Amino acid sequence: MTLGIETSCDETAAAVVADGRHVLANVVASQWDTHLPFGGVVPELASRRHVEVVLPVVRRALAESSVQPADVDLVAATVGPGLPGALLVGLTAAKALALAWNKPLVGVNHLVGHLYAAFLDGAGGAAGDGGPSWPAVALIVSGGHSDLLYVEDHGRYRVLGRTRDDAAGEAFDKVARLLGLPYPGGPALERLARRGRPAAVAFPRPLLGAAGEDSLDFSFSGLKTAVAHHLEERGRDGPGAGEAWLADVAASFQAAVVDVLVARAGTALVRTGARTLVAAGGVAANGALRAALASLCDRLGVRLYVPPPALCTDNAAMIACAGAFARAAGRCDDLDLDIEPRLGWPEAVVEDATR
Ligand code: KG4
Ligand code: ZN
Repeated sequence: MTLGIETSCDETAAAVVADGRHVLANVVASQWDTHLPFGGVVPELASRRHVEVVLPVVRRALAESSVQPADVDLVAATVGPGLPGALLVGLTAAKALALAWNKPLVGVNHLVGHLYAAFLDGAGGAAGDGGPSWPAVALIVSGGHSDLLYVEDHGRYRVLGRTRDDAAGEAFDKVARLLGLPYPGGPALERLARRGRPAAVAFPRPLLGAAGEDSLDFSFSGLKTAVAHHLEERGRDGPGAGEAWLADVAASFQAAVVDVLVARAGTALVRTGARTLVAAGGVAANGALRAALASLCDRLGVRLYVPPPALCTDNAAMIACAGAFARAAGRCDDLDLDIEPRLGWPEAVVEDATR
């Protein structure tokens, strides 16, 4: 029975997960109302909100799962990457609880947490499915990362591609802002895009099909600029402008992002020969991306694991899950464990993913 705590950005989250798989409680207190007037996350405000709500959120997770502190076997908390002040609050709370309850503590890499959400119930496959089997290709797309990985085994990662500029979620957020949508932009843009035509505007597919380009990297800032130019050229208040036009722009932008992500994932699967694809991170909550990945995997005969939308965006169940796997592999951290705000993927061990 693992208690997970996640406070890396603007969500205060606590979850109780049994056997690293079954989510008994998943509480997420979003701070979107705190940051809404600023159009983005204000780090100092985020830390203060975390301090106020972290213990109530933990209490609620325990109450909802009917789990007593005595029944908890492990406390897991995010150590990074993320906002330093925000991370410090969650990790300090986790240390205090581990000390008070005399339970082991494991620090979790937030990125690894997103990946391990694929082991939680509902992430794919039939009931009783044991989760993804390695090797797998993983597409982790969030507000801060767009990473394509080859996962050889637990803890053995090789980064095949990453973004050269904006992350996919960042592009969604910035384009949403251009479209006049409220923060957080991704979900709002997806809602608007449902009423638009994905082929209405031929936005560029960055780095796709360029001559001699066999990189698996992403680049989204040019796409964002293309959307900005298109909006300027037509003029928000010009003839034909209005809700339907904005919906077309949203749908066309979303289609361009989805095309690029799916093409890269497909190339990575073919190159590595992996038979499993994992997609996770906030952008993997996007319905158009989920549908396109499902048809890609159908076509390639590859098994797809995508957590339910609520487990793609930041949550503590994924942290509990990754913590439980780490503990099962023998990890246990001391109380002098510190935050690592700039943490990346753990050192890659695989030399050549195509071997
Ligand atoms: O994983 P996440 O919750 O936090 C980070 O670790 O960054 O990802 C947040 C990102 C934001 O950029 C948000 O706009 C995006 O994921 N996002 C979406 C959707 N839901 C969240 N993007 C597109 N469509 C969505 N439905
Ligand atoms: Zn995240």
